[in-house]
Amino acid sequence: MTSHQRWTLRTQHTSYTVRLSPDGPWAELDAWGPHGVETGPSALDWSHRTHFITPADAAPAEYLPHGIRPFTGADLVASRPGHERGTWWTFEEADPDEHSLKLTFTDDLLGLRTTLCYATVPGTDVLHRWTELTCTGDEELRLERLDSAAVNVPVTAGARLTYLSGQWSQEFQRTQLHLTRGTFTIGSTQGVPGHAYAPWLAVQDAAAPPDAPAPTYGVALEWPGNWHITTEAEPGAAVRVRAGRVPHEGAVHLAPGDTLTTPRLACAFSADGLDGLSRVWHHYERHLAGERLHRTRKVLYNSWEATGFDVDAADQLQLAKTAADLGVELFVVDDGWFTGRADDTGGLGDWYPDPEAFPQGFDRFVADVRALGLDFGLWVEPEAVSPGSRLHAEHPDWIYRIDGRPARLVRNQLLLDLGRTDVQEFVIATLDRLLTDHDIGYLKWDMNRPPTERGRPDAGPADHLDLDAGHVAGYLRVLDHLRHAHPAVTIEGCAGGGGRIDHATLARTDVVWPSDNTAPLDRLRIQYGFLHAHAPHTMSSWVTDAPGVFDPRPRSLAFRFVTALCGVLGVGADLRAWTGEQRTEAAEWIARYKRVRDVVHHGEVRLLGTPDDATCAVQYDAEDGRRVVVAAFSTGRLDGAPLVPGRAVRLRLRGLDPAATYRDTATATTYSGAHLLHYGLPCAWSADHDAELVVLTRQ
Ligand code: DGJ
Repeated sequence: MTSHQRWTLRTQHTSYTVRLSPDGPWAELDAWGPHGVETGPSALDWSHRTHFITPADAAPAEYLPHGIRPFTGADLVASRPGHERGTWWTFEEADPDEHSLKLTFTDDLLGLRTTLCYATVPGTDVLHRWTELTCTGDEELRLERLDSAAVNVPVTAGARLTYLSGQWSQEFQRTQLHLTRGTFTIGSTQGVPGHAYAPWLAVQDAAAPPDAPAPTYGVALEWPGNWHITTEAEPGAAVRVRAGRVPHEGAVHLAPGDTLTTPRLACAFSADGLDGLSRVWHHYERHLAGERLHRTRKVLYNSWEATGFDVDAADQLQLAKTAADLGVELFVVDDGWFTGRADDTGGLGDWYPDPEAFPQGFDRFVADVRALGLDFGLWVEPEAVSPGSRLHAEHPDWIYRIDGRPARLVRNQLLLDLGRTDVQEFVIATLDRLLTDHDIGYLKWDMNRPPTERGRPDAGPADHLDLDAGHVAGYLRVLDHLRHAHPAVTIEGCAGGGGRIDHATLARTDVVWPSDNTAPLDRLRIQYGFLHAHAPHTMSSWVTDAPGVFDPRPRSLAFRFVTALCGVLGVGADLRAWTGEQRTEAAEWIARYKRVRDVVHHGEVRLLGTPDDATCAVQYDAEDGRRVVVAAFSTGRLDGAPLVPGRAVRLRLRGLDPAATYRDTATATTYSGAHLLHYGLPCAWSADHDAELVVLTRQ
């Protein structure tokens, strides 16, 4: 080993350089930024003097165990049962190639081999990092902490952290925090990523003005289970972010000879601020979608808000007929279609269409929907079981439970232990049956309760169960099966709104449901946060009835359509009550959306302003630069027209060619790029004109 060994991994526009530390047996960050940033002395170099801490505590270490790094936050805490905690490893070998790197460290006394893994993601500015842990001794290891990776960010004035926080119905609120010293953690122990925080974080130097095109670093953890992302701001302007699974049962046990692979941490960089970082994540999620990116996301109608549990073929068909007349392409029957599901107290687990709801048979109903020219979709919650269901009576042992303890109900239901192979087989067989027996082109997979009594009696020592990883593996196995066995079926991911949105889920679903809140101004804010982390082609969004059940502030139908068409447009209103005028307007919006959805789903996104501003917008630039689509919103204050009568608000676009000419055929207006960049697009808001969709064609 030489202390000067360095390796550089290059993504599309960035490079990431790791070196072996001159101070001890660990890898540390040398440089991360735009191509070429690695040439020059490392911005993370430090004096190598420490007081009261060790060099390992102060180093910009890529991954260090408790033992070598005793004080300032280790990434791994391992021990043999009955022995002291701690790992003291030596560097063994490096295995680099152009796109990946593996660095291996071993501790023979403990019996642990640790490999830090790096791989670039083709065509993106994302680097994957994860860790492989192998028990090389003859005694099992206890892993109390098993992070995926740590990243280091040089800052001058503390870090500005941007994260997405919330709760049910208020997911993805963009939240910022200035961390000068101390520790800040986000995460979930709910067995899913949760509504409270997205497994995503952006870090900037707090000295840079907010929303400026400044260097911005991001991480996102690919794990639909328990997780944390922890940021530590230490003396000397060092900011280090650790991320990984949370071993909720106390520790994960690693048997002799076994290897545990941690979830991947996707690491992203943009020199262009949070807006640029969002585009990096959008590219990455297009990569995750693979070929399915090019599958047209159909305009959906979902009957949940219109009919709730009161599903009845005649009502549904009436809704389907109206939806089809508006130009909707897909009809989805949500919760309430199966036996025993009159409300949320029953039915889950017994996945058979309710003969009372479909008196002429379910297949006849599906055929009637399809005869309207609509594709057909169905809601399921495969992990759930109602206490009074037949499934629960037959398999009481399939739920999470602890002997002698009461099983609590959440939303009146229990949760299947999807880590069990027999439960996975049941779920796969159920979904196969539904998708084979009926003509279903779309499946909405919901999940509405976290695991509470986390136990699996009779499965060996309770403290050795890794139920979280088991559930995740079962969930991913079923999703993988669906994609493999039913490739034509489009899958929507949902967990009581946006409770389970992470890259493992996004890689196996086509769209996700960010929130149950579809009230216009609330939704705008949720989508604004969502688009920081996720791509528009994943963002399912419905137009529902005004004013909305969550937020009574009135907004026009146009506002609701323009908001929903910022992603994958759907309609969830009770169309039976809509006037002819509303239906005509809706049909026009749907037709307009269809003309631009390729740009919305595949274009470069720029978030213009925020929902706190009087005017904000989302700008989508077509890949070939020929079209620019702007979804613009007046959020409340009319700060143009009333204050300066006759003068429209201006919305400055970004990223256009100043020398090019752009034409808005709808208003027969021609602009230069320079005009749109300098003065901006005029938005003449009034009390009843609060949103617009502008399409500019480059001449
Ligand atoms: C929660 C989901 O987020 C809703 O869209 C709806 O599907 C309900 N569950 C149905 O129970």
